[in-house]
Amino acid sequence: MGYVRDVYPMPIRPSIISKRLRRKEKILGDIIVCCISILAGIQLTTSLCYTFFPEVLIRKCKIPPQKVVESHSIPDFIEDLGEFHFHKGPKRKLMLVGVMTSNKYFNSRDWAIQMTWTKTIPGDVVYFVGNSTDPAPDGLPLIRLNRVPDNVYPPQGKVFEMLKYMYLNHVDNYEYFVRADDDVFIKGEELGSLLRSMNSSENVYMGHYGQGIPEEIGKLGMGKDFFYCIGGPGVIFSHKALKILAPNLDNCKGDTATFHEDTELGRCVENYLKEQCKSNRKVRQLFYQNYREVKGTFNHELGAKESHAITLHPVKNSSYTLNLIPVYCGMLCLDLSLSLPHLYSICNVTYRIVLSRSVNPTTTILAHIVPKKSSYCPTS
Ligand SMILES: *[C@@H]1O[C@H](CO)[C@@H](O)[C@H](O)[C@H]1NC(C)=O
Ligand SMILES: *[C@@H]1O[C@H](CO)[C@@H](O)[C@H](O)[C@H]1NC(C)=O
Ligand SMILES: *[C@@H]1O[C@H](CO)[C@@H](O)[C@H](O)[C@H]1NC(C)=O
Ligand SMILES: *[C@@H]1O[C@H](CO)[C@@H](O)[C@H](O)[C@H]1NC(C)=O
Repeated sequence: MGYVRDVYPMPIRPSIISKRLRRKEKILGDIIVCCISILAGIQLTTSLCYTFFPEVLIRKCKIPPQKVVESHSIPDFIEDLGEFHFHKGPKRKLMLVGVMTSNKYFNSRDWAIQMTWTKTIPGDVVYFVGNSTDPAPDGLPLIRLNRVPDNVYPPQGKVFEMLKYMYLNHVDNYEYFVRADDDVFIKGEELGSLLRSMNSSENVYMGHYGQGIPEEIGKLGMGKDFFYCIGGPGVIFSHKALKILAPNLDNCKGDTATFHEDTELGRCVENYLKEQCKSNRKVRQLFYQNYREVKGTFNHELGAKESHAITLHPVKNSSYTLNLIPVYCGMLCLDLSLSLPHLYSICNVTYRIVLSRSVNPTTTILAHIVPKKSSYCPTS
């Protein structure tokens, strides 16, 4: 066996050792000098900057604390409700409708809604604007969403903030939550019947299904076969669905794939609620989107489609919103299950027409109801 092997390293000559040591020392020294120079350089640069450009550095240091102070001093939501009170009873009310609007529509679209279909809703209707500080007109219950700008379209940030507000403050007081545009007409009695026929303890995300325009399909950041609810004709959430969605709304708001609003809400639902738009061809007709008239006047003689629908969108010109109520009330008149006082409470705006039980829209209505600036009182 190779027993005798050189176990000890070969002796090295002393002259070589001292040479190596000296080289190591030199390298170490160089490194130290280099570090000291860098530190000195940084120090010098900083002092020079402070001397010649103090505002730059000071601003850099101070921005974070200022931001913190700001976000604490302005609340995320400001309620400007006037005489209005939210339902707070032990038994849930059927629906809370949130109308997404902006300050420029206070005295047109919002006024028209307040005069017309608000009265037909079995529940409450409130209006949501962004961080506008314009005063709310009398009688318009308003929530200001301070974390989003007001006059930005599509109202992508608004929808997430609105649902968050509804969740934080009212999720247990209503069965259903409706996301509505300010250019939609809702037949509240009919929507009520539809919602009463469903179960609000199930995940409901309902409306007019869509996949986007052909060029966009597959580019909206959601599954190719996924159907979302288009925004215009209204989107319904059950309180159960809102509870599941709510903790994720900030994520959805901060992680968007497009500038759209309804498709982003759809993505949020796809990712966290894991439901498609509860819809089919029949439901689609109930949430009626007027594709032919893009400006959506609804000023022509209304036919079977409009009579059958529960919501009509878009009604761009508010005077046509006012025109729609006689049509609607005319239909309600034929519903003998409604008591006359109840009919009045809905159709008071069109009092005379209702009494004559005429189904025809009237053009004289505008002569009786004229929007006064910042007021919802008819001047008849
Ligand atoms: C609203 O927010 C936008 C963008 O965040 C901002 O530019 C604007 O000054 C804000 N307006 C008000 C009234 O706070
Ligand atoms: C409503 O749905 C919930 C949850 O699925 C279920 O427990 C409940 O029995 C349903 N209620 C009715 C009346 O069907
Ligand atoms: C809305 O309709 C009314 C009545 O037809 C008309 O006088 C008015 O100019 C229209 N407004 C707009 C903005 O088109
Ligand atoms: C209609 O409303 C007005 C004011 O809002 C009220 O004075 C009037 O009594 C109402 N009419 C009916 C028949 O309810």
